[in-house]
Amino acid sequence: MQETSPAITYRDVFVGLDVETPLLDGSRRRYINFDNAASTPALRAVQEAVNNFLQYYSSVHRGTGFKSQLSTHAYEQARQTVLRFVGADPNEHVCIFGKNTTEAVNKLARRFPFSRERNVVLVSTLEHHSNDLPWRAVAEVVHVDITPEGRLDEADFDRCLEQYKGRVALVSISGASNVTGFLPPIHRLAEKAHAAGAQIAVDCAQLAPHRKIDMRPLSDPAHLDYIFLSAHKMYAPFGTGALVGRRDTFMQGDPDLRGGGEVEIVTLDQVVWSDPPERDEAGSPNTVGAIALAAAIHQLEAIGMDAVAQHEAELTAYALTRLRELPALRIYGDSDPARAGERLGVIPFNICNRIHYEVAAILGYEYGIGVRNGCFCAHPYLLRLMNVSEEEAKQVRHNILSNDRRRIPGMVRISFGLYNELAEIDMLVEALQNICEGRYRGVYVQDTASGQFFPQGWQVNYEAYFHF
Ligand SMILES: Cc1ncc(COP(=O)(O)O)c(C=O)c1O
Repeated sequence: MQETSPAITYRDVFVGLDVETPLLDGSRRRYINFDNAASTPALRAVQEAVNNFLQYYSSVHRGTGFKSQLSTHAYEQARQTVLRFVGADPNEHVCIFGKNTTEAVNKLARRFPFSRERNVVLVSTLEHHSNDLPWRAVAEVVHVDITPEGRLDEADFDRCLEQYKGRVALVSISGASNVTGFLPPIHRLAEKAHAAGAQIAVDCAQLAPHRKIDMRPLSDPAHLDYIFLSAHKMYAPFGTGALVGRRDTFMQGDPDLRGGGEVEIVTLDQVVWSDPPERDEAGSPNTVGAIALAAAIHQLEAIGMDAVAQHEAELTAYALTRLRELPALRIYGDSDPARAGERLGVIPFNICNRIHYEVAAILGYEYGIGVRNGCFCAHPYLLRLMNVSEEEAKQVRHNILSNDRRRIPGMVRISFGLYNELAEIDMLVEALQNICEGRYRGVYVQDTASGQFFPQGWQVNYEAYFHF
């Protein structure tokens, strides 16, 4: 074990980190959240900005009253903040607010100007389903392969570009994997995509909270044409997300959702749409969500994205080092602590032939450690990383369709946020060691339909913690 007090702690700038949660033995413990790749806790700056803004909150865009005008001003400022944060040029790019990354990808899929000749989208086998399924609905999708270690196979990327020469309209690729933390070389891929006459979209759901994003001007061959992000993964859980993309794309065509707030003229038989971004924000927007996202960005910028990356690389290197001490633990993807700075702090593993559901349950019920388990909305990637044969995969699909998820292949995933600390990793490693050695208190029962493990006799009164 190393020295476990980190040089810097960011705990103070977050909400709720000292809250104690109940354990199976009747005690309480400060919750350890290692599920940041799913959603992150709120920053205090976000809570304060929302509280402050709510006293002025009013309708945006069409109101003439002071509060409406102030709300419109704040909403538009939030838009500028997002553009600046991702290195976009407001003359070339627009920021369209929506619900989350999934909605942003779906919007681009419906709004992208495919042509008869160019109707292929290259994605990869490591994508989250949200950056795969929307494309299948509108284009021919080609999946670039991965290497056995779970990296994007760049040789296969080149091969696909060549094989579909003249037909690839768009490359849509993850900026960072939500399973292994792998960081595809997005700017190099962008250069190749552009050289092949295609555009590139980058799913920044995981990248945005952890790394600086720079879309670069459209004149730069390595620029990014579109990016997607979700505020709830960026410490601003108020239901917003953003699609930042080329203005020229959204100047064309009809919006995917139709209604108020996006039109210049409507007669009984004619519509003139507004310019972007309004054209693509039908209905009343989530103003509070946009303010929350901008407040989170201001806080992240004040800390500095390099400092964020450095702290998280320290956590990741330490976690990989400590986890590798457990002989029965298998890490998927890159497990070398020396390369911790070249990936995100997302680490998937399995231990001592115990099914992932059980490990996650014991960590939660007996140690107050929140992790994620399963397939992380990336089924093809998981099956490849785990070397699941086609025969086994067939059996798994059969079991799922029979509503039996008890033996679905999966992993346990820990994922770090800015506020996590080295001492929390020590607690996790100690817990995993105990689990490996069969030292745990509960008697667990597995639910057939969900596959989840529940401790017998466990009851908790959630109303005691939160109620309306
Ligand atoms: C890489 C990646 N893309 C897309 C998504 C979807 O994000 P959201 O659920 O916010 O739409 C996620 C969520 O985990 C993700 O990790």
